Amino acid sequence: TDPSVIRNFCIIAHIDHGKSTLADRMLQCTGVVQPRDMKAQYLDRMDIERERGITIKSQAVRMPWEVDGVDYALNMIDTPGHVDFSYEVSRSLASCEGAILLVDAAQGIEAQTLANLYLAMEHELEIIPVLNKIDLPAADPDRYAAELAQLIGCEPEDVLRVSGKTGVGVPELLDRVVTSLPAPVGQADAPARAMIFDSVYDTYRGVVTYVRVVDGRLTPREKIRMMSTGAAHELLEIGVSSPEPQPTEGLGVGEVGYLITGVKDVRQSKVGDTVTLESDPAEQEIGGYRDPQPMVFSGLYPIDGSDYPVLRDALDKLKLNDAALNYEPETSVALGFGFRVGFLGLLHLEIVRERLEREFDLDLISTMPNVVYQVTTEDRTVVEVTNPSEFPEGKIHEVREPMAAATIIVPAEFIGAVMELCQSKRGHLQGMDYLSEERVEIRYRIPLAEIVFDFFDSLKSRTKGYASLNWGADGDQAADLVKVDILLQGDQVDAFSAITHRDFAYSYGTMMTAKLKELIPRQQFEVPIQAAIGSRIIARENIRAIRKDVLSKCYGGDISRKRKLLEKQKEGKKRMKMVGTVEVPQEAFIAALSSD
Ligand code: GTP
Repeated sequence: TDPSVIRNFCIIAHIDHGKSTLADRMLQCTGVVQPRDMKAQYLDRMDIERERGITIKSQAVRMPWEVDGVDYALNMIDTPGHVDFSYEVSRSLASCEGAILLVDAAQGIEAQTLANLYLAMEHELEIIPVLNKIDLPAADPDRYAAELAQLIGCEPEDVLRVSGKTGVGVPELLDRVVTSLPAPVGQADAPARAMIFDSVYDTYRGVVTYVRVVDGRLTPREKIRMMSTGAAHELLEIGVSSPEPQPTEGLGVGEVGYLITGVKDVRQSKVGDTVTLESDPAEQEIGGYRDPQPMVFSGLYPIDGSDYPVLRDALDKLKLNDAALNYEPETSVALGFGFRVGFLGLLHLEIVRERLEREFDLDLISTMPNVVYQVTTEDRTVVEVTNPSEFPEGKIHEVREPMAAATIIVPAEFIGAVMELCQSKRGHLQGMDYLSEERVEIRYRIPLAEIVFDFFDSLKSRTKGYASLNWGADGDQAADLVKVDILLQGDQVDAFSAITHRDFAYSYGTMMTAKLKELIPRQQFEVPIQAAIGSRIIARENIRAIRKDVLSKCYGGDISRKRKLLEKQKEGKKRMKMVGTVEVPQEAFIAALSSD
C-alpha cells in the first residue's frame, strides 16, 4: 500500500469514557465487522478483560475508508488504558501518527486523559479532540468542549461530538482521521525496520507479533532478526488483521500488521524491540527497547501444598503470554513452597492471580505486596530487597525507596480531603492547577509503597468517587524504613514481616499482633505474640494457656474410641503448621494476610 493512503491512529481516553465501544462502532461503520457478528468489545480478547471492562493487550485493526473517491487504509491501534501497562501504551503511541483524544461528555477531562495526552504529545502525535456519549441526558458538551479546547489549544468548534453507542458523528470522525492526520513517512529502499508494539501467545499459532513498519519491507520466508537480542527467525506468515488475520505478500513503509515466526514465548518477541532482516540488517534500533520493570512483588503460595507443581506449570504457561511476569521459587516457614512473583503494579497482580485461580483451578494465598528497596549496609554493600526476609540484619547505612509522581483530578471542594490523604501517605505537594472553575489537577510526589496499595480506594471514598488518579515512577528517595517482624513464642513468622516507615511500624505491629491473638487457638502453654524491630519489641499480646484433655471424656474403658479420637486429632494437625513449638492452623495465616 502507498503510504500516502495510510493513516495510523489510536484512541486515548480515561477508563470508562467509551474507547472500546467507539472502536467497535468504527469496525461496524467501515464494514469490517458485520452487525450480526458484532460481539460487544470485539477488540478485548481475554475473558477477564471483557468481564472487568478493561483493555490489557493492544491490537491493531485495518479498516478501509473512502474520502473524496480515494480509498484509504486506517490502522487503529488499541492501547491499554491502565497505568500498570504504561510502557506498552508508549510503544502503541509510537506506532501512530495521530490520536483520538476521547472524553466523556458528561465527565470531562480525567487523570488518565491528561496522562495519555502528555504521552501522545511527547510522541508528537496529531490530536483529534472528541467528546463521546453525547446521547446521555447528563452530557454537557458545550462546557467540556471549552475545557478540552483550552487544554490542547484549539477552538471549541474543532472538538468533534460523537456517540459510540448510537453511532452519531462516527463517520465524520473517520473522515477527520483521514483529513487531519499526516500519512506515515519512511524510507522504502532502506534496510527494513519495524517496531513491535504487541506480542500475543496463541495456542495454535505460537506467538503473534504486531508491528509497525518504519522503513523498507518485510516479506514471508525471509529471515528476520530481533535487534535487542540478535536472535533470528524465519518469517512464516505476515499479514493484517481486519479484524481476522489475513496473510499478505508483505508489509511496507507505514503499514501495520502481524508476523508469525513459530516462536513459542513472547520473550522472544518483545514489545519495544525492532525487527530487521538478517540478510540486510538496519544499524539503528527504532526508539530504545526497555525491559518491563516489575514494581511490586508478592509471594504466591498454593493453599494446598500438593498443588505446588500445578502452580509452577501454570506460571510457566502464563509467562508465554506475559513478558512482564517474572518469578522464582521461594519457601516460607508459615506457607511452605511457593513463588516470589514480580508485577508491573497491583492491577497486574490481581489479573495474574485471577487467571491462576480461574484457568488453572488453584486456590492461592498471596503475601503482602511490597516494592523494591535499595538497602546499603554499614560496610556499604548494596542489597536489592524485594522480600522483607531479605532485609539485612544489623546496622543499616541507608534505605532508598521508589517514588511515584501522582496526578489527581477532583472537584475543587475535595482539595482539602485529597491533600490530607496525600500528606498522611508521606506525599509532597508539587503543584496545583485549575482545569476550570470547579475542577483541579493536584500533583504529589509520594512513595510508591504508599500509593500502590489501598491509596486509590481511600482516595475514592474521601472524594465520593469523583477523584481520578494517575501515577508514574519518579526516581527514589532515602527514607527511615525498618523491618517489623512478628514473633510467636520468640520465633519469627516470615510471611508477616513487613517493611514500613518507622512512623507506621508501631501501628503495623499492634494491628498484626491483635489480629493473630484472635486467630490462633489457645495452646497448652502461654504464647506471647510480639512485634519487633531488630531485637526491640514494639508490641505484644498473649494467648493464654489451656489444657485440652480430649481423652478425659472417655472414662478409661473403650480403647477403640480413644484411638479414634486420637486419629481425628492427628487429621486436624495436618492442616496445622508448626512455628517453633506453636501450632497454627493454616486458616489463621490466610486470614491474617487478607487485607481487611
Ligand atoms: P476501558 O476499556 O476500561 O478503558 O473502558 P472504555 O473506555 O473502553 O469504555 P467502554 O467502551 O467499555 O464504555 C464504558 C461504559 O460507557 C460502558 O458501559 C458503555 O456501554 C458506555 N458507553 C460507551 N460509549 C457510550 C455512548 O456513546 N453513550 C452512552 N450512553 N454510553 C456509552
